[in-house]
Amino acid sequence: MIKLGRYIPVFSENARGKARNLSASGVDDWLLRLPREQGIYLASENSPYDHAEDDYDSQYGHSDADAIERTIGRFILDAAGSVPETVLEVACGTGHLTASLLHDGRIRRLVASDASGRFLEITKRKVASLAARDRLDLVRLADTDFDAIPAGVFDAIMMRSALHHFVDFKGVAATLVKKLKPGGALLMLEPRADFHIAGSLILKCAKAKAVQMGLPWTEAHEHHAGDFISAAEFYLNRTCDKTRAEDKYVFHIDELMEIAHLTGTHLKCLGGEYRSTFSSNFHDFMRYCMRYDQSVLNDIMEAAKDELAFMDRAYETKPRYAAAEWFMFRRE
Ligand SMILES: C[S@@+](CC[C@H](N)C(=O)[O-])C[C@H]1O[C@@H](n2cnc3c(N)ncnc32)[C@H](O)[C@@H]1O
Repeated sequence: MIKLGRYIPVFSENARGKARNLSASGVDDWLLRLPREQGIYLASENSPYDHAEDDYDSQYGHSDADAIERTIGRFILDAAGSVPETVLEVACGTGHLTASLLHDGRIRRLVASDASGRFLEITKRKVASLAARDRLDLVRLADTDFDAIPAGVFDAIMMRSALHHFVDFKGVAATLVKKLKPGGALLMLEPRADFHIAGSLILKCAKAKAVQMGLPWTEAHEHHAGDFISAAEFYLNRTCDKTRAEDKYVFHIDELMEIAHLTGTHLKCLGGEYRSTFSSNFHDFMRYCMRYDQSVLNDIMEAAKDELAFMDRAYETKPRYAAAEWFMFRRE
């Protein structure tokens, strides 16, 4: 049964609270008009993810023990250089970022959204033990309804690994920027094209290197290598129909600069979520995102060790190099 929204008390403890209250009441004005079911506001129809939502965390190697990632939220807020008070998270999935932001504790009000109702239930469960969980509201919200996000209410909109799911990624970014308060920021973690280009070249050479080095190269090696290369070709393609694909793009830096130009924002590259190297990203991407068999991956890492070492040296001055990095678009 769909219930009407509950009243959420606004923050009011000090003088700065006045401006804060305006944001908070803007959030409430939006949410309280929506139907609500099991503690989740409903702004859009349910749109399940392409893969089983309940398997999502284990696919990325997150066990129950490390279900709440404690450092990402802190990293993003520190790298952004200021702490937004009222934040909308788009496409929160299983609440990896949501939980980390609540754990950090500096954001006063967080609205986390996703198109999938199941993901929102998982997020709700994940944050249940956190002290700041009362600062969170959950909304079922798909990109088709981003126009309904209230303007001038959020200091920041964040999305982790989501823009590349939208066919019209520039249009979605522009819609979200328009919703920000002046001075607000759109922050996003997105995959880099250069990782996929270099990774494909390394895999294309790996077979010849394996033969030279007397390492195994079986059908399984060929299959795994081919999988990454053809996925990269698809993500880099800007002319084919992407409507039915879940993951659609990896981004060139100049495409992100174009978004900044179109939206009148300043672009800042914040780096990856952890200090890491190209080789460790290569290993983890193949293991968890491409689901490589570990022994096949060990052979490939050995066959490609010179190329990987070269890439590590190439990015030596960028200790947060990552296959996907955080980018911030700040409004004037
Ligand atoms: C790769 S997952 C990222 C999830 C989460 N942010 C994380 O970092 O683990 C992409 C997310 O985008 C959401 N999504 C896909 N299409 C969407 C759409 N059209 N509107 C809103 N969310 C969508 C999915 O439900 C999923 O949660």
